[in-house]
Amino acid sequence: MSKIDIQNLSVTYEERGDLFTALSDVSFSVNDGEFVSVIGSSGCGKSTLLSVLEGLRTPTSGTVLIDGKPLTGTGLDRGVVFQQYSLFPWMTARGNVAFGIKQTRKGFTHKQRLEIADEYLEKVGLSEASNRYPSRLSGGMQQRVAIARALAMDTDILLMDEPFGAVDAKNRVILQELLLRLWQNEQKHKTVVFITHDIDEAIFLSDRVIMFTESPGTVSKDISVPFPRPRERAALLHSPDYADFRSNLTTLFFDTEAKIGETEEDWVVI
Ligand SMILES: Nc1ncnc2c1ncn2[C@@H]1O[C@H](COP(=O)(O)OP(=O)(O)OP(=O)(O)O)[C@@H](O)[C@H]1O
Ligand SMILES: [Mg+2]
Repeated sequence: MSKIDIQNLSVTYEERGDLFTALSDVSFSVNDGEFVSVIGSSGCGKSTLLSVLEGLRTPTSGTVLIDGKPLTGTGLDRGVVFQQYSLFPWMTARGNVAFGIKQTRKGFTHKQRLEIADEYLEKVGLSEASNRYPSRLSGGMQQRVAIARALAMDTDILLMDEPFGAVDAKNRVILQELLLRLWQNEQKHKTVVFITHDIDEAIFLSDRVIMFTESPGTVSKDISVPFPRPRERAALLHSPDYADFRSNLTTLFFDTEAKIGETEEDWVVI
């Protein structure tokens, strides 16, 4: 049974009487413990998809099943990291992580929650900054806290909407490596749906890449990433198959409409 099963999902927005279809007939599933990236151009409905998975938006038609049961709203089984910084400004880094833990993990005292928060802040390299407020953290540091919070909440599912989209190129690479290392090191891997524009990021992190068409978004390709885990960036970049795979994904990304209907064998070189 799939962890997440999206069946014929469509979302239509209504704005001042006009209807706009953001997602059209989207179907795909994500296995337990799988890391799946959704990639597509701006406006194709990726954030809309995530808001449905989060339980904040009701589909216009279609269904979403989590563990085989219809999704009915927000749930403690799902942690979320957004592109824009989503920390509470009135709480320290430590307070933000401890608050997240309080939402999803019951039976801990306040002191224990702070201890768990410290453990996760250490994992993201922010022990020194644990008593700082978000306004005194750089954008990259704020995203580290958001990652620490999402992981500390220890939900089965992690939903990430371009979580590194607003950080500079170098920090982006560092954060990708951090996320991959933490995810790979977990005893039981979380099921991740990761939204991105970035092909290298999608390949580096994911087991599968789901490519969307332009608006209204629907699945154009569902591609398995063939590189073994645990992954390490230098080894991946030097792998003889990497350049071909990346080039094929890039071609597909910029030429989605023309490629719909082809079989994977037509274009996957490796
Ligand atoms: N609340 C809303 N009301 C009306 N239209 C909306 C609403 N939210 C999103 N849309 C429209 O739906 C389409 C998909 O938006 P969405 O934010 O899901 O795209 P996206 O793929 O996440 O884009 P980006 O990569 O730029 O973040 C866009 O055309 C957007 O203008
Ligand atoms: Mg978006």
